[in-house]
Amino acid sequence: MENRLPLIAANWKMHKTIGEAVSFTEDLQKETAPSVDREVVIAPPFTALDAVRRTISRPDFKLAAQNCHCEEQGAFTGEISAVMLKDAGCDYAIIGHSERRHLFGETDDMVHRKLVAVFRHGMVPILCVGETLEQREDGSTFKVVDAQVQQAVLGLNPQEARLLVIAYEPVWAIGTGKTATPGQAQEVHAFIRERYGALCDKSVANATRILYGGSVKPDNVDSLMDQPDIDGLLVGGASLEVNSFKRIVQFKTTKK
Ligand code: 13P
Repeated sequence: MENRLPLIAANWKMHKTIGEAVSFTEDLQKETAPSVDREVVIAPPFTALDAVRRTISRPDFKLAAQNCHCEEQGAFTGEISAVMLKDAGCDYAIIGHSERRHLFGETDDMVHRKLVAVFRHGMVPILCVGETLEQREDGSTFKVVDAQVQQAVLGLNPQEARLLVIAYEPVWAIGTGKTATPGQAQEVHAFIRERYGALCDKSVANATRILYGGSVKPDNVDSLMDQPDIDGLLVGGASLEVNSFKRIVQFKTTKK
């Protein structure tokens, strides 16, 4: 097995005030031991980025934005650029989340441009891909995921390709309580790794972390993390409570 540092990310979406975000981060750091064998990423809403950054006091805790505009500055009312996110202390930015694609009309080309902007400013994108229920049922899961990855990563240099984090989030599993089975998730993760290897380089793909997201809960975390190609998790609902997210961060695996 390649040495891929597990990454567990809390995507809070449009939840938590600054005060709530700070007390969650304080409590999670108090209630878990610092770790060198996993990375914990908190993605609060933009308004709480700075406060969470100031609260993070451990090297295994990192900060992520939930979105990013592709331009550096300009007349784009309501948008936030990669320059600003870097300035706010972000290490990562989630790009192309299915809610951005489906509710806000983000195209593969926009996702690509955002990803380039995030790298340009010294952060690491967490690229989200995943099929809808209709696409799964009509047998196009692999085709859809393959196209999303290919278009997003056009022109990355080898170092960027190695750093990129990919998150497989089947749309039908997000916020529905319907998790992909560990086998279903593993099948798509292995496919993404193989295709990514063909696109960039096999050794790059073997070092790339591929996260699973979609109704991850304390009771399914261990079986998901036991899968050979699942290198971490992107957690929505279950990341809002310290107790449930703590259990997810403390996943147990027999994987070597
Ligand atoms: P849920 O964990 O609430 O299904 O959300 C998953 C997700 O969208 C994480 O980005």
